Amino acid sequence: MSRSFYIKTMGCQMNEYDSDLMARSMIHEGFIRVSDPVEADIILINTCAVRAKPEQKAASFLGRMRVLKNRNPSLILCVTGCMAQKEGYGFIKRFPEIDLVVGPREINRITALLKRVRTGDKVVATDLNDVPSTPAPSPGYFSGKVSGFISVMEGCNNFCAYCIVPYVRGREVSRNPDEIVAEAKDLVADGIKEITLLGQNVIAYHWQDVNFVQLLRLVSEIKGVLRLRFTTSHPKDLSDEIIRCFGTINNLCPHLHLPFQAGSDNVLMRMKRGYTRDHYMNLVRKLRAVRPDMAITSDVMVGFPGESAQDFEMTLDLIGKVRFDGLFSFKYSDRPGTLAAKLPGKIPEDEKRRRLEILQGLQKQISLEKNVQMEGNRLEVLVEGKSRKGNQLTGRTGTNKVVNIDRNIARIGDIIKVTVKQACANCLCA
Ligand code: 5AD
Ligand code: SF4
Repeated sequence: MSRSFYIKTMGCQMNEYDSDLMARSMIHEGFIRVSDPVEADIILINTCAVRAKPEQKAASFLGRMRVLKNRNPSLILCVTGCMAQKEGYGFIKRFPEIDLVVGPREINRITALLKRVRTGDKVVATDLNDVPSTPAPSPGYFSGKVSGFISVMEGCNNFCAYCIVPYVRGREVSRNPDEIVAEAKDLVADGIKEITLLGQNVIAYHWQDVNFVQLLRLVSEIKGVLRLRFTTSHPKDLSDEIIRCFGTINNLCPHLHLPFQAGSDNVLMRMKRGYTRDHYMNLVRKLRAVRPDMAITSDVMVGFPGESAQDFEMTLDLIGKVRFDGLFSFKYSDRPGTLAAKLPGKIPEDEKRRRLEILQGLQKQISLEKNVQMEGNRLEVLVEGKSRKGNQLTGRTGTNKVVNIDRNIARIGDIIKVTVKQACANCLCA
């Protein structure tokens, strides 16, 4: 029987979590993971559909895997995740080499679905009503890793005008807190020191009478959880009670990822975001009042339909006023089936590119200035692994800044204090 599998993960942290969930249940059933697709009997591509670019990347990787399948017809080719949900059976029609299409809400059934493929069927599993599940027990799966994710809720109810997530991940469903706590304890037993709670809008978590703040406290009290984070948060749901947690929960890191998307109220309204620019700026003030060292990062897009030159100026203005610690910026792209795809006033590609370049130039300068201010400071770093070049170690501060350190002064998993010697826009060197 074909036993080895390879997983390619594209997209967000939720997809990384989902890939681990699939891998854990496959390993539990006796499958063996390999790190080269050429050696695999089963190839899974866990895809992202949030923008056009990750879809193009998935299509090009799929193209390479189809070549392998044509050479070796017994290879099982499986597409999972958001693009799988979006395309459904259409994927197999377009690319007959694909054997299995699995949406994000069905990945917990991966081993059963693979058994059906073995009988020669093509299988499409895209039910959005399945509840999120707990990964199979797999002690030691995370050994050697320092930080881990736990998905605490799935889906989204917000239907922001540009966003495909509610269509491909379904409505919000939260997980039982007892299962979340048990999963956190398993991670700690594997040596994980930092846990990030995940959800499309994680602060909307709600299980019976347990709200997000109560969940945060439960996980923060687990022995061995040295650092706790959560992502992503919608500004309209960020309550004072949650903000206060940054001052009261000791192991909660002083960093929040809070996407603002646009700096003009006109655009925010047409995006159906449910907050104003002032509301966002007020949240930033409150967060910094609770923790003056609070790092705030965000997502923003340029070229939403109808975005005028003044609207774009308002976005730049907000960036200049907030001075984010980091910013993920995107060109708006039409997602089929969303409200924005039908809106008039589409911005030409060239103009979107021009706006993005200006915005990224501004943010680069801010990131550099903020990092240079840290030179000479002593910071606490959780050492996570080898640096990319391999001759140093790399870790992160509580504020989520990457710090490169001498490999002789610490071991992976240590929390150490270092002095920043030099800064660039992307990282600090100690
Ligand atoms: N076009 C461009 N960017 C998008 N995002 C979500 N949908 C789109 C789209 N249609 C961005 C948002 C979101 C991030 C994950 O991706 O900024 O926060
Ligand atoms: Fe998409 Fe808005 Fe939901 Fe975030 S909150 S996943 S942007 S619909």
